[in-house]
Amino acid sequence: MSPGRGVASARGYAADPRRAIELHRLPGRERVIRFRLMATSHQDPGLLADGVARFIPPDVDSAALPRSFALAAPAAVRGPIPDAWRVAPLFERSGDTYRAAIPIDPGTSLYGTGEVAGPLVRNGFVTEAWATQPFRLEGDGTPVPNYDERSRSLYQAHPWVLAVRADGSAFGALADTTYRLEIDLRDGIRLSSAEPFPVIVMEGNSPQSVIARLAQLTGCIELPPRWTLGYHQCRFSYYPDARVRELACEFREREMPCDAIWIDIHYMDAYKVFTFDPEGFPDPTATNDYLHDLGFRSVWILDPAVKAEAGYTAYEDGVAEGHFLVDAEGREHHEWTWPGDAAFPDFTRPETRAWWGRRTRAFLDHGMDGVWVDLNEPSPILPHGAELPGDLRHGGGGDIAPGTHAQYHNDYGLLMSKATHEAMSRKRPDRRPFVLTRSTYLGGQRYAATWTGDNVSDWTHLYWSVPMVLNLGLSGQPYSGPDIGGFAGTPSPELFARWIGVGAFLPFCRTHNSLKGDQEPWSFGPAVEEISKTALARRYRLLPYLYTLFREAATTGLPVARPLFFADPSDPALRNEDQAFLLGGDVLVQPALLEHEQHDFPTLPGDWRAFTLAGEDPATDPAHPVLRLRPGAILPIGPGGQTTDQAFEGPLTLIVALDEEGKAEGRLYEDAGDGFGYREGDYLLTTYEATLQDGDVVVRVAHQEGQRKPVYREVHVEVL
Ligand code: GLC
Repeated sequence: MSPGRGVASARGYAADPRRAIELHRLPGRERVIRFRLMATSHQDPGLLADGVARFIPPDVDSAALPRSFALAAPAAVRGPIPDAWRVAPLFERSGDTYRAAIPIDPGTSLYGTGEVAGPLVRNGFVTEAWATQPFRLEGDGTPVPNYDERSRSLYQAHPWVLAVRADGSAFGALADTTYRLEIDLRDGIRLSSAEPFPVIVMEGNSPQSVIARLAQLTGCIELPPRWTLGYHQCRFSYYPDARVRELACEFREREMPCDAIWIDIHYMDAYKVFTFDPEGFPDPTATNDYLHDLGFRSVWILDPAVKAEAGYTAYEDGVAEGHFLVDAEGREHHEWTWPGDAAFPDFTRPETRAWWGRRTRAFLDHGMDGVWVDLNEPSPILPHGAELPGDLRHGGGGDIAPGTHAQYHNDYGLLMSKATHEAMSRKRPDRRPFVLTRSTYLGGQRYAATWTGDNVSDWTHLYWSVPMVLNLGLSGQPYSGPDIGGFAGTPSPELFARWIGVGAFLPFCRTHNSLKGDQEPWSFGPAVEEISKTALARRYRLLPYLYTLFREAATTGLPVARPLFFADPSDPALRNEDQAFLLGGDVLVQPALLEHEQHDFPTLPGDWRAFTLAGEDPATDPAHPVLRLRPGAILPIGPGGQTTDQAFEGPLTLIVALDEEGKAEGRLYEDAGDGFGYREGDYLLTTYEATLQDGDVVVRVAHQEGQRKPVYREVHVEVL
């Protein structure tokens, strides 16, 4: 479409979006210069980078628009939008609603929109960027997630759409607002909100290049500590501490790979954040020491809401220092959460983030390795579906202006993640922080990994796990995964087996469940225990490759788990596939996610050959996805083990799949696994090349980057 084609609204408000730019240029050159120099807004229209243009609705004072939360840093305008620019939003206003419409050409597939249940392709869906906890409580107090594929919003908010055209070129549209935004994909892309918003359009010759541009603007994940790539075991809740110790021993006795045990809210004293239950968890340091001695890391939960109780220091300091959200009359606002009546920290205030940080650092004195922040949509527990009123006041500070909760609701999880991440960095400057958050906003990958929130132990939620992770990856968040086995309910042995089978190949790999039933990998009998062991053995062998992909995600923003259409964005047969997925560019994962049906996987160009990692046989056991290697790839894998530390020691195996010309190439990233030495060059990025020479496959190191001393170890080569 041509940007000159405008759509006038009923009030004749909108038209050619480039008029907005013209408005700032007129009436003369002198005026232009004055505008540029005096502009205080970081929201000027124009070209922000190659292939990235920002559009502002006409008649909107760009200097008055709020600062962006999505962008990692304010983006300066580099110049005017070129005439040949292909996609420009058509802004209109009707009544109190501001809209931006982007028509799409036939054959365009839409993706992204963050955390959404349902199929990968989003054409035809209407969702909202509005952080929501969609749950109800059962009679016994068990939270049960309550959503389906027509639900408008889930825990995270990503005002972002990726559009892939028929020819494989792509663009992305970022509605740069934190207010509630409707994303209507029934007829092109229609974005609407009660407040005006800029739209940033990113062009690319492929979806990958658009995702890379998104990462340049909104930031990449930090390279995570390597242990977080292992298997995690969680439940609501392991209690008391003796149960945690027993669980840890059982993992090691059964030789079930595991790196981390998670401690949910029952460790707290009456669910009061930053406290410990004197009976169940009297000595959290000893619990962590015990776990560390067995080679585990621990991750403990923190909820934002602070119980309103006299004598409870977190609350009393919070009140004294003004850290809690207040209503329009300045009265502290309370909601009913796990501990009962509670107040909510105002994370827009730098002083409140510092206060949270001090408390988190004191908490970390007990030796927790990671922090899990939850309920930060933010969510009351009762009544069901409640959320904080939109007219609550946020104080802001620094570069955040004071505002209402309607404005900052979507940022709550991001700002809580930021405060927690900063606390971890300050507490342990030589270790990489690990924060997992339930809620966040576009760009939140800078501070925390995410999981897909509460799900249900049923086949539909198993199937959704894959497209949810893929769409999050296409929305800037490469580090996510589902609650394996489902949070609410109890999976059948077969369902659990299938879930752990595929979950072993998703970026974040954690089993978690609610109050009912046991969900350890051995809880479903010896057959499922064996399947789980094999599934995790496969993951642990693949870790060197997986870690290389995380390094790529941390440097380019490309997802770890990628949709099949990345292999050929112009092939329409790959556009809808949301059961099979790619790990990086080289490994195709074909899981069996349906209970009764067989799924016909589309074929990728070339001969992607199947390979095995731990003696599995997907033909006889559908829990194990079939794995295939791209022709022309070399896959680095390790020996596996019970922990990630073991999995990176010992011999390296290179699985080689030659292409038609008898060549292959692959990369391996290695570093200390934690800390920041890699930033000073303490890493090694090795490129291996294989060629067929006189009937022999010759593998050599083609290139090495980084100054880390190479490890002398056995290298095995397997040619597929
Ligand atoms: C929320 C979380 C869940 C957690 C529970 C108790 O429902 O989503 O993961 O187990 O709260 O903290």
